[in-house]
Amino acid sequence: MKFFIDTANLDQIKEAQELGVLDGVTTNPSLMAKEGITGKENIINHYKKICEIVTGDVSAEVISTDFEGIIKEGEELAALHDQIIVKVPMIKEGIKAIKHFSDKGIKTNCTLIFSVGQALLAAKAGATYVSPFLGRLDDISTNGLNLIEEIRLVYDNYGFETEILAASIRHTMHVIDCAKIGADVMTGPLSSIEGLLKHPLTDIGLEKFLADYKKGNE
Ligand code: E4P
Repeated sequence: MKFFIDTANLDQIKEAQELGVLDGVTTNPSLMAKEGITGKENIINHYKKICEIVTGDVSAEVISTDFEGIIKEGEELAALHDQIIVKVPMIKEGIKAIKHFSDKGIKTNCTLIFSVGQALLAAKAGATYVSPFLGRLDDISTNGLNLIEEIRLVYDNYGFETEILAASIRHTMHVIDCAKIGADVMTGPLSSIEGLLKHPLTDIGLEKFLADYKKGNE
């Protein structure tokens, strides 16, 4: 399972990278705005900075919603760095653009996936990744994990190579549940990754090991 961090915060990206288990980064316009990154030039520079920190895929989202606009923006983003994955919304024009990018060898992440049908269409168009939004479905009393399970089944039925990128992860149990049902990738906040470290018996056990060592070596 690949681990992506879902943020545009450079300090958090560095911290996750230093842990040694990071496979990539996802961003979106809201995450960029949260960090105060505005204006085309600043946004472009920010993507370049992220690519310098990590070695894996970096999703950069287009703002355009028409075919020509998505193509122009996506090609500009893809040209920035070979780690850039063009993130395209699940709309009709987006699907056409994903097919175009796929034919040209440009990698894509189809975002805002909330149904199996959408995931099937994105895979048919040749998306590299699809991003079902787990947390946002859970927020409206709909089981987001069921969606990921169903996408897994459909993709396995036909051998689609599109990777299931479980997005909108809110906490560590989401990560574990996604791993159990075979999501290829998860993207979440640093806290969802660091939560995997924790167990009180580990802390108690280590404390005792160190205390016993100290007793025997005083
Ligand atoms: C997906 O790539 C999005 O950036 C993200 O996971 C959305 O998460 P949210 O629902 O926490 O905003």
